[in-house]
Amino acid sequence: MRTPIFGGNWKMHKTVKEAIHTVEDLKEEIGNIEEVEVVVFPPFTALNAVKAVLKETQIGLGAQNMYWEEKGAYTGEISPLMLLEAGCRYVILGHSERRGYFGETNLRINKKLKAALELGFVPLVCVGEKLEERRKGKAKGVVATQLRECLEKVNSPEVQRLVIAYEPVWAIGTGETATPQQAQEMHRLIRDILLELLGEELAASIRIQYGGSVKPENIKDLMRQPDIDGALVGGASLQARSFARIIRYKNKNSLRNI
Ligand code: 13P
Repeated sequence: MRTPIFGGNWKMHKTVKEAIHTVEDLKEEIGNIEEVEVVVFPPFTALNAVKAVLKETQIGLGAQNMYWEEKGAYTGEISPLMLLEAGCRYVILGHSERRGYFGETNLRINKKLKAALELGFVPLVCVGEKLEERRKGKAKGVVATQLRECLEKVNSPEVQRLVIAYEPVWAIGTGETATPQQAQEMHRLIRDILLELLGEELAASIRIQYGGSVKPENIKDLMRQPDIDGALVGGASLQARSFARIIRYKNKNSLRNI
């Protein structure tokens, strides 16, 4: 049984004050929700403040990126140890915005992944094709290569903590979601590759999230697919109420009557 995991990736949004308000509201909206795992990914500057609000809740804290070295002369980077100290247990690696704007490569993501697993993080490794790649019928090949290269020689027992996020680039922030069938098809492929790389048990237990314009209105149909185990949510996670409606996709109403 895979526990669904919902991540709120806030990207480069929210001051410390705004971040505190959002998680306070989220706490109230979802209460002590069970059977799902919920994580927020605030900007680095808000991690400490958010950690304090999340104390004694089930909501996890994560970082949007990290470097693989523990310390050193790497101006502008953040180390895994610093993130652990700030209360992070989760980390997003290889988001398409990092790949697209900041030159993140599969090789770098692979190094980050190894460091993250070694230090006890739950890493969320992102893969996904661009629109022109899908149009040319190359989507599956692109995602398969990303996955294989990111997971190269990653075979420690800790890999059971790994989460994969399938985020088609054309669906991110565009309002255009992959259809549940398109998403399921890619999630199935990812699971088949995990089977080949890591064996049956791990392939069956590793969670694969979908990301790209996830909203309260489309989450239910996505979650009906057998290989979709949660969502990585951008825009709709910035408001506690809409993120909570996604997390509580099974119930029509949230804890509070909205
Ligand atoms: P949106 O939900 O805004 O499309 O962003 C998805 C995403 O990139 C999550 O990491």
